[in-house]
Amino acid sequence: MRKVKVDLAERSYPILIGANLLPKLGAECARLKLATRCAIISDAHVAPLYGKSVVNSLQTAGFDPVFVTVPAGETAKSLKTVQACYDQLAAHRIERKSFIVALGGGVVGDLAGFVAATYLRGIGFVQAPTTLLAQVDSSVGGKVGVNLKAGKNLVGAFYQPRLVLCDLNTLATLPEREFRAGLAEVIKYGIIYDAKLFARLERELPKILRRDSAILASVIARCCEIKAEVVSQDETESGLRAILNFGHTIGHAIEAVSGYGKYLHGEAISIGQVAAARLSSRLTGLPEKDVARITHLFQASGLPTNTQFSPALRKSLFRAMQLDKKVSSGQINFVLAQKIGRVVFGQKIHASLIDSILCD
Ligand SMILES: NC(=O)c1ccc[n+]([C@@H]2O[C@H](COP(=O)([O-])OP(=O)(O)OC[C@H]3O[C@@H](n4cnc5c(N)ncnc54)[C@H](O)[C@@H]3O)[C@@H](O)[C@H]2O)c1
Ligand SMILES: [Zn+2]
Repeated sequence: MRKVKVDLAERSYPILIGANLLPKLGAECARLKLATRCAIISDAHVAPLYGKSVVNSLQTAGFDPVFVTVPAGETAKSLKTVQACYDQLAAHRIERKSFIVALGGGVVGDLAGFVAATYLRGIGFVQAPTTLLAQVDSSVGGKVGVNLKAGKNLVGAFYQPRLVLCDLNTLATLPEREFRAGLAEVIKYGIIYDAKLFARLERELPKILRRDSAILASVIARCCEIKAEVVSQDETESGLRAILNFGHTIGHAIEAVSGYGKYLHGEAISIGQVAAARLSSRLTGLPEKDVARITHLFQASGLPTNTQFSPALRKSLFRAMQLDKKVSSGQINFVLAQKIGRVVFGQKIHASLIDSILCD
């Protein structure tokens, strides 16, 4: 088992990564000295696969868990589901020293985290992420929240978990498309922070795609280490944390324009990262050969990389980017790369330049 620490003074917490860890969840929670009453929140896909193992593990360690199942998919990240969770927690007498275990992907983590942050003004929270995306990204860093009709993640909080436990065995049942989408975030860590990780991904991609657990353990641990380092330096996104958004300005616009559902998040940011790499070669000196390596690694991972859009689509993409939080007075804020492993943030780019990248 690997252990990565997220260093945030009194809110510090460990991320545990390894095979067959869910059965140890109860014992790990016991160290946190919380009440025996607790709730597991999971979704309709994940609950039948791993719910029993988590309940058993908690019961064996002396806890008294109740199980709350929410629908699978992004639509569950809503205030309506939050309300339904509150009602169940209240009905089951979940109290101030109780805790919530989020068992599932990023949707369950964001939702259950928001419920934990707000129920009784905040109760303990443990993440047991079961998608690659959730293990390397959403479960670490404390951003929790739900969507409004007006947009994604518009209601939320910074609320750190007490523990993150990544059981690599859960990835075995993850649909291929979801696994590859998670890889887009893994590759992002290489581009923004770690050239060695990027080279390793190039070398070991076939084994990673076969979900070789020894390699996955060290790759996931490295991604968590990078996210932990960035978050420790900038918990509430006032500066450095922005680098985690590499490829996300265009990626989010693609998701919004295509009506959330055509592209998975990882697929949209794959296109967004290739576009950001091409902008970087014009503006921040990213060598052409690095642009080619980046494009190739996404392609070899089975992710979309085509950045050519029709004039009509480009227009809608711009409209979506204007609504993004990163825009001020016609200039769009970008994270750009100088070389693989090093990026700069806060790069103000004029819309016309982005337009030229998206139509060549
Ligand atoms: N909080 C953050 O910092 C942060 C960062 C990135 C993304 N996110 C959020 O994460 C969400 C996306 O997360 P996701 O990609 O994990 O999607 P998800 O939670 O919807 O999971 C994807 C699908 O896989 C299923 N699933 C999950 N684990 C499984 C397993 N082990 N076996 C079989 N099926 C499984 C789910 O039921 C779902 O159908 C988005 O809402 C996004 O906004 C949050
Ligand atoms: Zn992302």
